[in-house]
Amino acid sequence: MNQEDLFKKLIAHSKEYGFVFPSSEIYDGLGAVYDYGQNGVELKNNIKKYWWDSMVLLHENVVGIDSAIFMHPTIWKASGHVDAFNDPLIDNKDSKKRYRADVLIEEELAKIEGKIDKEIEKARGRFGDTFDEKVFRETNNRVLDNQEKWNALHARFAEALNKADLAELKQIIEDNEIVCPVSGTRNWTEVRQFNLMFSTEMGSTADSSLKIYLRPETAQGIFVNYLNVQKTGRMKIPFGIAQIGKAFRNEIVARQFIFRMREFEQMEMQFFVRPGTELTWFEQWKETRIQWHKALGFGAANYRFHEHEKLAHYANAAVDIEFKFPFGFKEVEGIHSRTDFDLSQHQKFSGKKIQYFDPELNESYVPFVVETSIGVDRMFLQVLSASYFEEEIDGGDGKKDTRVVLRLPAPLAPVKLAVMPLIKKEGLPEKAREIIDELKFEFNCQYDEKDSIGKRYRRQDAIGTPFCVTVDHQTMEDNTVTIRYRDTMEQERVAIDQVKSIIAGQVSLRRLFEKLKS
Ligand code: GAP
Repeated sequence: MNQEDLFKKLIAHSKEYGFVFPSSEIYDGLGAVYDYGQNGVELKNNIKKYWWDSMVLLHENVVGIDSAIFMHPTIWKASGHVDAFNDPLIDNKDSKKRYRADVLIEEELAKIEGKIDKEIEKARGRFGDTFDEKVFRETNNRVLDNQEKWNALHARFAEALNKADLAELKQIIEDNEIVCPVSGTRNWTEVRQFNLMFSTEMGSTADSSLKIYLRPETAQGIFVNYLNVQKTGRMKIPFGIAQIGKAFRNEIVARQFIFRMREFEQMEMQFFVRPGTELTWFEQWKETRIQWHKALGFGAANYRFHEHEKLAHYANAAVDIEFKFPFGFKEVEGIHSRTDFDLSQHQKFSGKKIQYFDPELNESYVPFVVETSIGVDRMFLQVLSASYFEEEIDGGDGKKDTRVVLRLPAPLAPVKLAVMPLIKKEGLPEKAREIIDELKFEFNCQYDEKDSIGKRYRRQDAIGTPFCVTVDHQTMEDNTVTIRYRDTMEQERVAIDQVKSIIAGQVSLRRLFEKLKS
């Protein structure tokens, strides 16, 4: 299946099976805002739990908080967001469509990368097992030409971003003959800066009202609570504070489903360290976080690190973890060494001393910070796109059938177990309910008696349920059921008493945690 089709299918599937709905759909939707349905919310909660527990349970020096979305507006002045949280935008005069100038150039870079990948795949097909990608990259003229083109464009782009040179960004777009995907023309406006923060007013009268912002990141809620947590928790450096919460950005380009939203959720952890040790911790958290992703089993080749072309105003090192989405490698998580920028700024703007007394050094300092920041919604899209498969299967009587199956890691699956009476009478439904009543305290179970067993299996495959238990006439005689495994579609007859332990072994988050080193 080509990747564009896969992405369209994913969006349709998400809606059809209650994972993600466009927000305010009966009013024709609201741009880049989405709601999570009955299965989506379970998957999302499981992703959040996987992250939260991996931070807070597995690290005794990481604790959590939940800070408010509304914060004092000076926080955003201090953090630099009022002055510098901008994206460069450009309009096409013919289509009247608005784009991020940097994204247009990134897409041009991705196109060149695509050409290189195509040459490599063609050659791999031709040479088979003897193919040496490294040698091919170093000797094939078409690959070398494209690589040179990519290097030159990338260097020019990085310099323009670093200098915030908007005229140069426009010139790059012109020189590379980048066209508007809608009108196909190169009739562009100048590039302008656009602040991404949403603002609103707090207070009941016009005179007393205060302009406040919807937070564009959860991190600042952690920084301004640094002293509260350090003191009340008697935390010793190095230590971390984790938080999951909503963030809001008035994104210029809101495409690609839940990849880029205007209201989204972040899972962020700020790790406070002694100055001078931050780059060692940066490397350590890079490793810890990539392991967390890889433990899900979606394949190491689907991840890569991407060094930033331009460091944010607060960082002395930054890297993204990118995942291979159906629309290419894109950022899922950022790891930033944020120096002492934020705490120092809050110290300056609030006039309150924000320091740590280090008993080993016998001195006080403003801690440095290493941050890991991941979008819940992007993670959700990663999990969905890596798990979606269309398979040809045996439909019985020698006929072929197809199934859509979400091969979700079992600990993340919205429903862990479906219990199905073979028929709707002769005590089978009551027996099925008895099983659910026993297991519902441990696992999210679903009862399903409608349609043929085959159709019921298909429905559960489509939402990624790892286990289906069928109650039949034999169950009434010997208290055994058939348990059917989603991925292999194999079935086995087991005693009802065994069901709980079979499922528990597979759906516990512990299975994932055991794959994480220290
Ligand atoms: N505190 C640092 C920070 O916010 P960021 O790279 O701007 O860094 C971190 O955002 C993560 O938040 C991203 O890697 C991405 O997963 C997620 N994210 C950012 N903007 C988003 C958006 N508009 N929609 C969905 N997720 C977004």
